Amino acid sequence: MRHAVIMAGGSGTRLWPLSRAARPKQLLDVVDDGSSGARSLLAEAFGRMAQVVPADCIWVCTAAAYADQVRGVLPGLSADRLILEPAARDTANAVGLSAALVADVDPGAELAVVSADHVIRPVDRFAHVLRTAFDVLADRPDSLVTLGITPVTPATGFGYVQRGRPTQTAGVAEAEGFREKPDRTTAEAYLASGDYLWNSGMFVWRARTVLDALADLLPETAEGLARIVAAAPGPAREAVLAEVFPRLPKISVDYAVLEPASRQPGRVLVADLDVDWLDVGSWPALAHTLEVEGGGNAVRGAVVLLDASGNVVFSDDPAHLVALVGVRDSVVVHTRDVTMVCPIVDAERVKELLSAVERAH
Ligand code: GDD
Ligand code: MG
Repeated sequence: MRHAVIMAGGSGTRLWPLSRAARPKQLLDVVDDGSSGARSLLAEAFGRMAQVVPADCIWVCTAAAYADQVRGVLPGLSADRLILEPAARDTANAVGLSAALVADVDPGAELAVVSADHVIRPVDRFAHVLRTAFDVLADRPDSLVTLGITPVTPATGFGYVQRGRPTQTAGVAEAEGFREKPDRTTAEAYLASGDYLWNSGMFVWRARTVLDALADLLPETAEGLARIVAAAPGPAREAVLAEVFPRLPKISVDYAVLEPASRQPGRVLVADLDVDWLDVGSWPALAHTLEVEGGGNAVRGAVVLLDASGNVVFSDDPAHLVALVGVRDSVVVHTRDVTMVCPIVDAERVKELLSAVERAH
């Protein structure tokens, strides 16, 4: 069977103060294209996956602390499809745990791993490419298929996949290499070469394939996962999970699996995901989901602007007016208890700012 797991355990620190540890970005109603009211990124991701796999084959993997909020955002999620991590150990372990639990109920499962923090249009096109990526497994069952996006900037926050020889399936090539978060100079060279795609952070593989890759590349995780699924579902498994999972080595699936596996010829494939794709990681990215007013200001909430341009202005408190005059290229975010202001060029530093705030309090 085809399954999908949505990775939804990140904490979204660069979208502070809107995104908080207690209520991270994927659970906030930030997507608003004017059609049907604001929705959360997680609800969007679930809706996208429901186009490709049956609703009871959609799993969500997140932190135990977010369980109630996830259930609230996703009324269509089956109770036994919510995977709760006792601690955040990054995506290698989240993906591994998900694959182990899916394989436990369906040993031959084919699995799409997708992120909760993307806006993708058009959804039909996405669904088509995802089906193609699943179809490729019929020919090449042991592949690790990444979904790649045509890069438009030398971004250093993404993984890069080098497109190699085409496969028999249109739009799918062998990957010659995979490099997670290269430095700026390397990213510029990748972009100039035209051979690289951004890793969208979405993958298709058999659950068994990724578990075998972990056994090879991250044995501590593989052994921990084997102990977890050896326990009977219910309280016994919960107890082993609580004991074992928090001690697994913290690393992302990109570093732990994709980078090394891409050095084995023909093991990693890349499917062209030719859609509008947005990783809603920072304020300038989130600005693309907001209404744009005159002067190129992206706004949400009670905001009055005079002679202001290129700003991102967000207020989530209807009783509080944000008013700017003569302000350019800045981010102004007002929430009930925190106001944050920074020049757009410093938007990536919001994470640092949050650390400074945590030290100061
Ligand atoms: N369950 C769970 N547990 N989910 C997690 C965890 C965790 O410990 N950590 C992160 N996630 C979720 C996030 O919520 C997000 O949906 C997804 O996994 C990816 O994590 P990010 O932390 O956002 O990764 P990234 O943006 O730095 O990099 C990844 O995505 C890029 C594209 O958006 C990589 O795959 C890059 O190669 C890729 O380009
Ligand atoms: Mg991300």
